[in-house]
Amino acid sequence: MSTTLWLPALFLAALAATAKSLTVRPECQSRCGDVDIPYPFGIGRGCFRPGFEIICNTTGIPLLGDSNQQIVVLNLAVTPLPEAKVMLPVAYQCYDSANIITAKHLGDVEFNKYSVYRISNTRNELFVLGCNTLSYINSGPSGRHGYAYYAGCVAYANDSQSAKDYACAGVGCCHTDIPPDLTDNEMRFTNDGLWSHANQEFCPCDYAFIVEKDTYAFQVAHINTSKSLNSRQPLLLDWAIRESNGSSSLSCDKAEITPGHEYTCVSNHSQCINSSNGPGYVCNCTKGYEGNPYLEQGCTSISLGMFFLVVALLLAFIMHQKKKLARYFELNGGNILKRVTGLTIFTEKDLNKITKNNAECLGNGFFGKVYKGTLPDETVVAVKSFIKVDAERIEEFTEEVMIQLKMDHPNVLKLMGCCLQLNVPMLVYEFAANGSLRDILHSNRRRNLSTKLRLDIAIDSAKGLCYMHSEGIRHGDVKPDNILLDEKLMPKISDFGLSKLLKLGEKLAKKVVGCRGYMDPVFKNTGLLTPKSDVYGFGVVLLELISRKQTVHGESCNLVIQFRHIYEREKSGRSMFDEEIIMEEDIFILEEIGKLAMKCLKEWQDDRPDMTEVAKQLLKLKKKDGHPDMTEVAKQLLKLKKNTIDAAACHSTEMSYATDATWSVSSSPISESS
Ligand SMILES: *[C@@H]1O[C@H](CO)[C@@H](O)[C@H](O)[C@H]1NC(C)=O
Ligand SMILES: *[C@@H]1O[C@H](CO)[C@@H](O)[C@H](O)[C@H]1NC(C)=O
Ligand SMILES: *[C@@H]1O[C@H](CO)[C@@H](O)[C@H](O)[C@H]1NC(C)=O
Ligand SMILES: *[C@@H]1O[C@H](CO)[C@@H](O)[C@H](O)[C@H]1NC(C)=O
Repeated sequence: MSTTLWLPALFLAALAATAKSLTVRPECQSRCGDVDIPYPFGIGRGCFRPGFEIICNTTGIPLLGDSNQQIVVLNLAVTPLPEAKVMLPVAYQCYDSANIITAKHLGDVEFNKYSVYRISNTRNELFVLGCNTLSYINSGPSGRHGYAYYAGCVAYANDSQSAKDYACAGVGCCHTDIPPDLTDNEMRFTNDGLWSHANQEFCPCDYAFIVEKDTYAFQVAHINTSKSLNSRQPLLLDWAIRESNGSSSLSCDKAEITPGHEYTCVSNHSQCINSSNGPGYVCNCTKGYEGNPYLEQGCTSISLGMFFLVVALLLAFIMHQKKKLARYFELNGGNILKRVTGLTIFTEKDLNKITKNNAECLGNGFFGKVYKGTLPDETVVAVKSFIKVDAERIEEFTEEVMIQLKMDHPNVLKLMGCCLQLNVPMLVYEFAANGSLRDILHSNRRRNLSTKLRLDIAIDSAKGLCYMHSEGIRHGDVKPDNILLDEKLMPKISDFGLSKLLKLGEKLAKKVVGCRGYMDPVFKNTGLLTPKSDVYGFGVVLLELISRKQTVHGESCNLVIQFRHIYEREKSGRSMFDEEIIMEEDIFILEEIGKLAMKCLKEWQDDRPDMTEVAKQLLKLKKKDGHPDMTEVAKQLLKLKKNTIDAAACHSTEMSYATDATWSVSSSPISESS
């Protein structure tokens, strides 16, 4: 099951949900695009602390509020460090060959009106790009355009060849750490005296920008064009709780007692920590707690959190399981089938018990594995996966189940129940201990089979098919694989009606079509399934029974062709009979079966006998097989009668048998329509 896949996903989702529920103010938007917005940040009135407003634009991109340009926010964090990742502009100054400034932007942008931010000195660095350039930042603690701090570097290259990609150590590029307490992004470029840019067309502009450490890689292409203009770079801002005008420095020892100041570490189990970059303070949950200290009850015990998480996960898991079972049940037509009388619907749990968690695999069915199981009353069953049911197939599927349920004949495999709580429905059938006719004819489970036994198998299979036809059901896939044998080698027709379902799915239909050897050429050409198509398939089964040869040898489908060839030439199939059973007293029966098979295999459907006729002919042979035991035959006929009460066709078999002791091989076609 896919449990292993979605469980971690669910865990993460629950984790995210738990975390989120504790990080925003009630009724506030918790996300914009894919960025979480934890308090004190917030979107909309009442959702943020002054200075921490975020605007979520119409395309779902979060922007810093209180700024004079759009500043995109990439990430906002409360813990473990109070940080905001934003895009800030690159400063530039361009010159012509006479050292006249032609374009200029010093990177100045108002993003810090409330002085809550400091450009992180630990997480960023300053880059300067140019060929005769001295550039420096010049902001300080007094806010915009303060000139308390200068930090910068010199970049030089005297021709277009000397700078190298990824090398930023002075030639065309330099970088340096920045001091703490930086409030602004404003740069300065020097262009007088020593720093003339005359005759430096290979390097038209100087650039300066602060960027997150280890994210920028210098390229020569960045300096020999002016394409780098107007770009922005990601950097990290430290934030803290400060007075809005930035002139006072609120530290933890004063914060709680300063009149007019709204102390922000409001959660129980939270503590105040002096800001590591600039004045002011930040909050943190105390040891053993986690969450958002800026919200009431934001800090929760880690173990308590784990407990809730585990409970939530467990609940989610149970709900999910229940929902899944219910969904499959519905998808698989459960709502219709649960009203069908006589159909046992097993739960997934029941089924696992019945098959002992699929302990014994019997082999592969058409759509998947077949497992052996035992019902509570010790009945042995075979559990088969069926075709995947979707909305389009639901009606066909439920119909098919109802038809199979209705089938009540000793030679038709009995459907005992189904389980619909899985992604493909599982059908529970009576168990056929001896596998399929194919197994005992050809596989390593092959066994000695007398002519009499083969004839019995043929007769009983014909009766099963005859019964199905009398009920208006066409099998569509008659072959030894679909004739199962119980412990007494009594044949049971299985897997009928599949072709009808298959027709719905092109892909699966292809599985059936092709060099199969059992397929009625008429059906192959027209796609029209008639009872006579089953007669064709049965003809092939008869050939396999008398020859014990596989229909399909390798690539060619030659049993039918081969037999027909020999039969036409020698007026006998004798040379094809299984050597194991060629005995004088059996030859007549084998010849008759061969003759009958040839009739079943006629190209023209009207030339083929119907199943009733086939059953009749075979029964007649039984009478002549050296055991003219009339009571046995009469018993058989009675059985046939009992099981085909409404079956006019099969009924007539026994009627004629009872009245007409001498059979004539009649091939008068009984007209069939699809
Ligand atoms: C807050 O506490 C966590 C866990 O104790 C710690 O990792 C983090 O560095 C603290 N944050 C600050 C700003 O001190
Ligand atoms: C660049 O510097 C080198 C080394 O000082 C010097 O040899 C060369 O002439 C200079 N090139 C120009 C174009 O000034
Ligand atoms: C700046 O903050 C200080 C300290 O809280 C206060 O006294 C002063 O009035 C504030 N100035 C302005 C312009 O808000
Ligand atoms: C927070 O702590 C105070 C004082 O210790 C206590 O009265 C209050 O019940 C606590 N609140 C919560 C939600 O635990």
